[in-house]
Amino acid sequence: MTEHARAEEHGTLAELLLERPPMARELPGFATDRLPANPAELFGEWLTGAFHAGVLDPQVVTLSTVDTDGCPDARVLVLRGLDVPGAGWVFAADADSAKGRQLAARPGAAISVYWPLLGQQVRVRGVVEAASAEDSAVDFLDRSPWSRAASLVGHQSEPLSSLDAYDSAAREARQRLEADPKLVAPGHTVYTLRAREVEFWQGDASRRHVRVHYTRNEVGAAPSAWSRTLLWP
Ligand SMILES: Cc1cc2nc3c(=O)[nH]c(=O)nc-3n(C[C@H](O)[C@H](O)[C@H](O)COP(=O)(O)O)c2cc1C
Repeated sequence: MTEHARAEEHGTLAELLLERPPMARELPGFATDRLPANPAELFGEWLTGAFHAGVLDPQVVTLSTVDTDGCPDARVLVLRGLDVPGAGWVFAADADSAKGRQLAARPGAAISVYWPLLGQQVRVRGVVEAASAEDSAVDFLDRSPWSRAASLVGHQSEPLSSLDAYDSAAREARQRLEADPKLVAPGHTVYTLRAREVEFWQGDASRRHVRVHYTRNEVGAAPSAWSRTLLWP
């Protein structure tokens, strides 16, 4: 279909942006009178709700980091777990990737996610901790053979000469794994973003968006560790 024919049938981009405002549908309410003391508990409730509501891949979140020049960077990745008492958002990555190097130099980071079906956004800011090599190895060995082979290929975000070059490196990685099933990709690392602040944002078609912001007061899992407030939308 030509660009002109597509525009005739579906509208131009300018028309689409104008005619299809986001969140123009019925969205869930946000009962702010009975919120958990710990924001990770509320995130777990929202994420479970997103799965049950049929949100596609709700565990895919955006991780934002900062490079040594202070320039922000962001990419999506899969959330591997949630440490509720420690308010930790857990993910895995290669320590030798751009994000791994950025985190080693500047561990301050943010995770954000938006679930369009529910009009819900969550923003988390804090400091990232790397797990020990032993714990990271356990996570690696728990993965599917395809995932392990992909990690073993390495060179993430480096220029690739051709897709054939990737296929041959992936083949070699699978052979190495077959020969040694306990092999662990050297840079594979489990990271935990320890939240210092978390914001929950519930969108509303009439723009009466509801925002709740949690701030950490003290280390630990006591209810007093967090305070929360509503924010103007
Ligand atoms: C749906 C989806 C899931 C992804 N999951 C991960 C992941 O769990 N870990 C990861 O390192 N990269 C993941 N990626 C790839 C990252 O977005 C990114 O391209 C890669 O990690 C390189 O980023 P960097 O150069 O900033 O380090 C995923 C990408 C998509 C689209």
